[in-house]
Amino acid sequence: MKIISFGSMNIDKVYQVENFVLPGETILADGIQLNVGGKGLNQSVAAARAGACVVHAGAVGEDGAMLTDFMKDAGVDISQIQVLPGQSGHAIIQVDSTGHNCIIVYGGTNRDFTKEYIDKVLTEKGEPGDVVLMQYEVNEVPYMIRRAHELGLKVAFNPSPIPKSMEDLPLDCVDYFIVNEVEGAAIAGIQEANPDYKKVLEILSEKYPAAVIVLTLGDAGVLCKKGEETYTHDIYRVKAVDTTAAGDTFCGYFLAGLCAGEDIPKCLEMASAASAIAVSRPGAAPSIPLYQEVVEFLKER
Ligand SMILES: Nc1ncnc2c1ncn2[C@@H]1O[C@H](COP(=O)(O)OP(=O)(O)O)[C@@H](O)[C@H]1O
Ligand SMILES: [Mg+2]
Repeated sequence: MKIISFGSMNIDKVYQVENFVLPGETILADGIQLNVGGKGLNQSVAAARAGACVVHAGAVGEDGAMLTDFMKDAGVDISQIQVLPGQSGHAIIQVDSTGHNCIIVYGGTNRDFTKEYIDKVLTEKGEPGDVVLMQYEVNEVPYMIRRAHELGLKVAFNPSPIPKSMEDLPLDCVDYFIVNEVEGAAIAGIQEANPDYKKVLEILSEKYPAAVIVLTLGDAGVLCKKGEETYTHDIYRVKAVDTTAAGDTFCGYFLAGLCAGEDIPKCLEMASAASAIAVSRPGAAPSIPLYQEVVEFLKER
């Protein structure tokens, strides 16, 4: 079984500045760093490093070679990625001398999905049991979910960033919800701050009884429900250096475990360990560990 990942890919352009630019002002940056990012890219890389067969689907612009090169090096099948006119998805990030940031994200070619392209990838690449993964940084998500389900493929949805309206999303067709606490509460329709997350899990599983719910809670670990069974897993304590991509690492590792036929406790263990390692290192995609590193990490615990 493999993962077909309909996912965003971003070039993060990080500018070091003394102070954020003000209206009408022009400033010189002290430095620039280009990083690969995007939830789709991070999740595909995590699943591939976990050993899964991952076909990434999406588009980059003519500036996108650094994105596809990075994914290829990570072992992701990039044969379906299109190069389209225009700019790749990117983020302009100012980091000031106090370490704060402000960010502009431009969706670029991440927003150029068409129904024809989605159909082509699903019918040419999809095989029974395959998992089709998507987040909400790309367009045409309702169609992706519906078509993957119609074709008998498994749908994994990470609703990030949180959709403004759930109305046109066929969430009944989702087989795996991978949500953090904020996304989980939003899908459950809970408005209160700091709700009881066991209750959020119950509400989600009552709403979507056929789905597996994975509710990650940051440094409070993870809750999971499949049918009547509830599972939990604590975090592995590490010195947190950079929590970017923790959730994406978890998502990729969890789904890779499922595709390899592992049971839920094993998937939660591997995903928790992999994301703890990612948290202990700087950066997003580059911080995602290889399968063997996760195995070694667990041996030492
Ligand atoms: N400080 C941390 N130390 C160790 N593991 C962590 C830490 N923060 C997150 N994790 C792991 O990463 C998973 C996903 O993190 P979470 O913050 O819930 O996702 P997201 O990045 O989507 O907000 C958690 O369930 C946990 O296993
Ligand atoms: Mg979080």
